[in-house]
Amino acid sequence: MRTEWSDLWRKLASQDLMTGEAGESRMVERWAGLARRLDDPGEQRPDPVLEFVLDRLDAGTTVLDIGAGVGRWTIPLAQRARAVTAIEPVEGMWRALQDRLVSRQMENVTIVSEPWSDADVPAHDVAVAAYSMYTSPGLAAFARKMEACSRRLCGMAMRIPAPGGVIGELSETIHGEWHDSPNFVVGYNALLEAGLTPNVFVEPAAARYWTDRTMGEAAARARRHLRLADGRFDGVIMETLERRLVRTGEGYRWPDWMRAALVWWEPGRACEALSGQALGIGP
Ligand SMILES: C[S@@+](CC[C@H](N)C(=O)[O-])C[C@H]1O[C@@H](n2cnc3c(N)ncnc32)[C@H](O)[C@@H]1O
Repeated sequence: MRTEWSDLWRKLASQDLMTGEAGESRMVERWAGLARRLDDPGEQRPDPVLEFVLDRLDAGTTVLDIGAGVGRWTIPLAQRARAVTAIEPVEGMWRALQDRLVSRQMENVTIVSEPWSDADVPAHDVAVAAYSMYTSPGLAAFARKMEACSRRLCGMAMRIPAPGGVIGELSETIHGEWHDSPNFVVGYNALLEAGLTPNVFVEPAAARYWTDRTMGEAAARARRHLRLADGRFDGVIMETLERRLVRTGEGYRWPDWMRAALVWWEPGRACEALSGQALGIGP
């Protein structure tokens, strides 16, 4: 059966748990912890996807960081570039970013507190969106606007779902759909369907896997990913986790990896409209 990737993206993006007031406050709470870790030099981790972007900037570059969050990318981008415009609609997130900028006395970042679809910004050299398109049902429109606002490079970072992962197995059992949420596989195919043909940088094989201290925490993680508000599926979840998670000294390790891809293109080049037939996806 042929998959309609744009429709699948739309469906998964519309189900995202981070939408609505409750979802936003859960996100702000979770990211407040991350912001603290980002400011701890002992917790710094390499980010090859961010490095790919940083390598293409110089002291004269202007950058648009769409969905900046607490500034995980914004701050390193602004340390390399001339100026960064950070688009971040959620108040708790942009206030945390603002605090981090003030504590570093960084003055080359402008925050625009609007969603990307409403933001009115001039063209920058580079436009990036790191994991911030997951709640936008129209991925192609998101990308087209990035292209309209950038002169040299557009890049979208998205997570790659683990092929042999537990979440995919559970999602298929519970929801009848292997993809539990928007991700690179669905996103890249949706962009192809829309006539975009971007390049892809895949971060080197990840050695990072989810680990939960207890089975209860692992089950809570599964329920969160699968958007389950009650315990109706706890039986199948526990059976699957007991069969698939590996006991380690730190707890229970999932086979699901954490790995990302950067979908990137040069404006006006990879976004030329191609016919579906030329891509082999037409009727
Ligand atoms: C998963 S966080 C990633 C933040 C940051 N880019 C990073 O990688 O650390 C996603 C962020 O995108 C923001 N976001 C979601 N939808 C957005 C939209 N339509 N326009 C701009 N920002 C958006 C959210 O508020 C959130 O702060």
